[in-house]
Amino acid sequence: MARVFSGIQPSGDLHLGNLLGANLNWVKMQHEHDSIYCVVDLHALTLLKDPEALRASTIQLAQLLIAIGLDPEQCILFVQSQVPQHPQLAWLMECTVSYGELSRMTAFKDKSNRDGTKFVSAGLFTYPALQAADILLYDTDLVPVGDDQRQHVEITRDIAERYNSRYGDTFVVPQHVIPEAGARVMDLQHPERKMSKSEEGAGTVNVLDDLKAIEKKFKRAVTDSESEVRFDIEAKPGVSNLLSILAGATGGDPATLADQYEQYGPLKADTAAAVIALLEPIQQRYKELAADPAETERLLRLGADKAEAIAEGVLARAKQNIGLLS
Ligand code: TYM
Repeated sequence: MARVFSGIQPSGDLHLGNLLGANLNWVKMQHEHDSIYCVVDLHALTLLKDPEALRASTIQLAQLLIAIGLDPEQCILFVQSQVPQHPQLAWLMECTVSYGELSRMTAFKDKSNRDGTKFVSAGLFTYPALQAADILLYDTDLVPVGDDQRQHVEITRDIAERYNSRYGDTFVVPQHVIPEAGARVMDLQHPERKMSKSEEGAGTVNVLDDLKAIEKKFKRAVTDSESEVRFDIEAKPGVSNLLSILAGATGGDPATLADQYEQYGPLKADTAAAVIALLEPIQQRYKELAADPAETERLLRLGADKAEAIAEGVLARAKQNIGLLS
């Protein structure tokens, strides 16, 4: 059985991009593979956070993931900082990746150049080394992610291959798994940029948004001045985004769905309805889980123990091969 690993940061609200790009695949894959999912709180520290807000978002995100359908009996669900092998292996990764490679990461360039970013932490720069540690610690075969994480999985493969060639066979070289529809959900107001946790407002659909507000956001989604419904990301980014969201939410294909519409209005209405149908039960389950944070913490602790039992062995192998005393 293949081993699956993926992670998500507890920063900002969980949005439709996360869901369609990654989390729905996580739910599916937990039934097919040996799956491990992680709330990566150490990664969230790369940008300045309020301590209480970070703790609260970590628990909330875990509850949302369970509400979406992750079952702690079917997969391992845990919080990164509760498994100390992650930062330990990250150092070995930092010594295996070069300054030049890290400098080429688009996520670093975007985040460090963002308006208002006055303090660029060293952690933001070495972030992909920690991400490589996350993945390689579990002998991971498959990494379900959205399109924006492609480069980070690619550098993880490079690090694994380099380590294996320098120190002998140590790590499994993983592959990304990117969904056909919804891999890159764009902002509804600015369809040329991706929907993101840092952009609040009318262009972002959050999983916990009021359902009426979601309907409005889709109604006001930016399209273009033509009227033809066609899947063409370059020429028609707004309409193509709606088609991708509809396809991601219903399991269809964006280009085929386009044939069913002649006007933008019905496309917007159907996309809103499909998203609401997806989110309504999630919101209900979330409400129940939110009432008992102690139970979530207990489940996460159990998850961390299971994760650590695997990570321990792989870290020992990596230390042995690189010449550290055991
Ligand atoms: P993060 O927390 O930004 O996003 C979590 C997942 O959501 C996907 N995603 C999207 N997919 C489609 N459209 C969008 N607009 C969109 N926005 C986000 C992301 O691709 C991701 O799969 N570095 C990672 C977290 C991480 C990780 C890992 C992932 C840390 N260690 C190990 C995989 C394996 C990140 O910041 O994701």
